Amino acid sequence: TEGGSDGAKRRAGERAAAAVEDGDVVGLGTGSTAAHAIRAIGRAVDDGLAVRGIPTSFQSRQLALEVGIPISCLEAVDGIDLAIDGADQIADDSDAPGYGALLKGGGAAHTREKMIDSTADRFVVVADASKLSGVLEKPVALEVIPDARTIVADEVRTMGGEPTLRDAAHKDGPVVTDNGNLVLDCAFDEIDAPDELATRLSSVPGVVEHGLFVGMADAAYVGTDDGLEVREY
Ligand code: A5P
Repeated sequence: TEGGSDGAKRRAGERAAAAVEDGDVVGLGTGSTAAHAIRAIGRAVDDGLAVRGIPTSFQSRQLALEVGIPISCLEAVDGIDLAIDGADQIADDSDAPGYGALLKGGGAAHTREKMIDSTADRFVVVADASKLSGVLEKPVALEVIPDARTIVADEVRTMGGEPTLRDAAHKDGPVVTDNGNLVLDCAFDEIDAPDELATRLSSVPGVVEHGLFVGMADAAYVGTDDGLEVREY
C-alpha cells in the first residue's frame, strides 16, 4: 500500500477486470491494487457477469464475499482462466534477463498467490508506476515453517542475504501467515539474476515459498498519474 496514487492503482485494477469474460474462473489477488479489480468484478457480477473467483488470501476472500463474487476453490475448478494480482516490485529493464520478474509477499500471501497466479492461463500484474524498477532490490519474502526459522536464516546469510523476521503491526510478535507460518524478509541488495536466486531459495529446507515470481507474469498493467502503460511479456 506504500507509494503510488490510488487513482493509478484503480486504473490498473479496473483495466484488468475489464478483461474478465463470462464463465471465467478468476484468480483474485491480494493488496490495494488487486482490490480495485475485485470491486470492479463485483460490479460486473451485479450486472449479470457469471464468474467464479479463487481468492489468493483471507483479505481477497473477504472482499470478494463483500462485493458478491461467487467463490470457489482450486480443488473444485478445472483450471484458472485469468489471475489478477498486485506486486511489490516489477523488474522493468527489457534488456535484462529478469525482465517482468516480480517481488511479492508484502502482504505475506505469496504462497497462495504463487499457486494461483502460476496455474492461470493468463496472469496479469496490476500496479502503479512506483513498483517499476530497473533491477529488483527490495527484500525477498520467505514464508518459513516456524521451527525452521533459524536454520533458514543461517542459510540465507551464507547466500549473502540479510534476513529479518517480519513483525506484526497490530500485535506483539511476528506476522503469522494464513497458513500458520512465519515470514523472513531477506535483503539481497540488487538481484541481478532472479531466476538463480529463486532456484536457490526454493531448495532450502523449511522454506515453504519465496516471493520471487520469475517468468510467471504474462502482462503488467501499470497505472501512472494520468494514464496506463501495458507490458506484454
Ligand atoms: C501480497 O503478498 C503482495 O504480493 C501484494 O500483491 C502486494 O503487496 C501488492 O499490494 P499493493 O497493491 O497494495 O501495493
